[in-house]
Amino acid sequence: MNFLNKKEKNLSKNFLNNGYIICKSESTNSLNFILKILNESIKNYLSTKKNINLNKVHEYIPIENLNDFRLKIIKDLNNNEMLRQNYFHIARNHLFTLAGNELMMQRNINLSIQYPNDPNSLLPVHSDVWSGDSPYEINLWLPLVNCYKTKSMYLLTQDKYRNLKKKINTKKNNSSSKIFKIISNDIKWISIKKGSFMIFNQSLPHGNVVNKEKETRWSMNCRFKSIFSPYVDKKIGEFFLPITTRAATEIGMNYKSPFKK
Ligand SMILES: [Fe+2]
Repeated sequence: MNFLNKKEKNLSKNFLNNGYIICKSESTNSLNFILKILNESIKNYLSTKKNINLNKVHEYIPIENLNDFRLKIIKDLNNNEMLRQNYFHIARNHLFTLAGNELMMQRNINLSIQYPNDPNSLLPVHSDVWSGDSPYEINLWLPLVNCYKTKSMYLLTQDKYRNLKKKINTKKNNSSSKIFKIISNDIKWISIKKGSFMIFNQSLPHGNVVNKEKETRWSMNCRFKSIFSPYVDKKIGEFFLPITTRAATEIGMNYKSPFKK
């Protein structure tokens, strides 16, 4: 039995069947806010007043400074106390439908900057659950430029994952390079435009390869989960903070029995 409405049921079905959904941002204002603070941070780093085309940032900052640049931008973004709220509003209703309306959100939002032909910004095939995340978490992935082919990330969709389970059920088949070989014909390259977001099931294998396109990839990602779902390594307070606690939960958490001293 499931009392979700038709729209919610369809969204849930797509998410369960495919392992991801792609939708238009629910808030243009929130997306613009994030792009604005990002642009300010880049201009500050470069000591310029000119807006920089994110796709071409590799023409302005040499690759040897990329790590320093990335750390500076991540720090600037996460120091802005309105960042997380705006990030959440980009997909608020979709997150409520897929993970519940009392949510935990990661304390810090991650940022990926992937230059063309840079072999150092790789994320080999993995599932977040293999390294300490709870399978109850979902990941909101936000492209800040159009992402396609190797300028994007790949995901092994749910239908293909069923076959993989049979193939890697032995100890000698479990290194990431071996797993990638097994799945390389089955992976789905995510094609997504700036202005949309993706929510994906991070327990499915995913990753990226060297960006062979001519533009730099910019994307952000952040995990969400239901407050009352099980936790693994990522704990409340250190990693997750509650963002939509409801009144009944507050009453329950603060309740003191008049019969106990
Ligand atoms: Fe991941």
